[in-house]
Amino acid sequence: MYSELVPHYVTPETVRARNPHALILSGGPASVYAENAPRVDPRLFELGIPTLGICYGMQLMAQDLGGRVERTGVSEFGKTALSASHGELFRDLPDEQVVWMSHRDSVTAPPGGATVTAGSPSTPIAAFEHAERALYGVQFHPEVLHTPHGTDLLKNFLYEVAGAPPTWTPAAVIEEQVAAIRAQVGSDRVLCALSGGVDSAVAALLVYKAIGDQLTCVFVDHGFMRAGEAQQVIETFDGHFHVPLVHVQAQERFLARLAGIEEPEEKRRRIGEEFIRVFEEEARGLGDVRWLVQGTLYSDVIESGGTEGVAAKIKSHHNVGGLPADMKMKLVEPLRMLFKDEVRRVGEELGLPEGMVWRHPFPGPGLAIRIIGEVTQERLDILREADALLLEEIRRAGLYRELWQCFAVLPAIKSVGVQGDERTYAYPIVIRAVTSEDAMTADWARLPYDLLETISSRIINEIPEVNRVALDISSKPPSTIEWE
Ligand code: XMP
Repeated sequence: MYSELVPHYVTPETVRARNPHALILSGGPASVYAENAPRVDPRLFELGIPTLGICYGMQLMAQDLGGRVERTGVSEFGKTALSASHGELFRDLPDEQVVWMSHRDSVTAPPGGATVTAGSPSTPIAAFEHAERALYGVQFHPEVLHTPHGTDLLKNFLYEVAGAPPTWTPAAVIEEQVAAIRAQVGSDRVLCALSGGVDSAVAALLVYKAIGDQLTCVFVDHGFMRAGEAQQVIETFDGHFHVPLVHVQAQERFLARLAGIEEPEEKRRRIGEEFIRVFEEEARGLGDVRWLVQGTLYSDVIESGGTEGVAAKIKSHHNVGGLPADMKMKLVEPLRMLFKDEVRRVGEELGLPEGMVWRHPFPGPGLAIRIIGEVTQERLDILREADALLLEEIRRAGLYRELWQCFAVLPAIKSVGVQGDERTYAYPIVIRAVTSEDAMTADWARLPYDLLETISSRIINEIPEVNRVALDISSKPPSTIEWE
């Protein structure tokens, strides 16, 4: 389903002009009675557009439509038993189900004319509906995984209540974007920097599908990729899809630039700067190229301040130092309306290998910022091998997709060990595995002890330069996911 995020102060006139099938008022941390609580224009409820209020959105609806919201003294946080025996949202769902709650205030009287359709032990009004006016509210969160029937509820709302057609499929997105790219670039030449990540890969494939050999991809191999990843990019794009690809082997240049450098920000800065230099050299060699493909996602558009007419901005943190500001190329951004999971589905539809589609996020500066202190060829080799062993075991245990990221870190210390009859003095490897929704916060993953044991003994036995394995058990905040 295609959706757009708009601010709470959107006017009814704007909404009417956009002519949506449905509106959803999201949850939020405020209390409807707080001074600066976000409000909506109550005329939104007069538009006749099916509207679903979730949590705070429900309370706002109740307050604006003549119901009552109060701090009852009973808060609900976490998994809660819900009873719902009727109501359009609950059609074909079990009468008793578990939902995720997170609220202090509660609706204590529904809006006039609305009926209560669900309740929990401590929140008698956990859902209401006013079918004639197509207004619906739920106190719990159908959008989170902890509400197992949440997606079914949202489907009931969108397909049954709002009659919205499920036409936003990967195939439709591809068709639409291919037409849009053709119209945008005409017969001009287009450049794309491939990173090995899913965003730039999907963006490149979409553009290639639209304009074929007018596209040239440049893959700057800085030598800090994980084991096998550079090869995978080459095999996939050159070998499989036959996309015109320039593979820049810049490993030695990057390593030379990092010689003797220990400070994390200086490492990042140098890698970013070198990336720009290499990329510019390549781009210049390609002649008259007018357009640059950028894998900007809808979440980036939202983060950069709005969803309409936002100036295209090249992400600095999330690309290797960003691309040159003075390249004077116009941007092609075929993923601008997509969320990450939609990008993945489009990638699958385009035939991108599973390993690339579902790859964990990987920082632009790569392994260089997972090697604490100086980056040398020897230390790179140690970390790459440890990381590969770790990921192999995580995949074997079926945990790869459950984790947001999992990787090895190489600290800049050595410790004493004993192997056979010999004293060793070697590096430790730190395992960093986290769960997260969006990388803004993260929790350390509770990996099974047996798995940790296997990983530890494999790393120590198979990599002579390592004699100890440690597990990072810090959450973000106060730690970060990466070590540098
Ligand atoms: P931190 O370490 O700040 O990381 O908790 C948050 C997320 O961002 C990723 N990350 C980067 N991604 N270029 C990127 O493309 C970078 O320079 C960079 N630094 C951190 C990190 O892997 C995590 O997913």
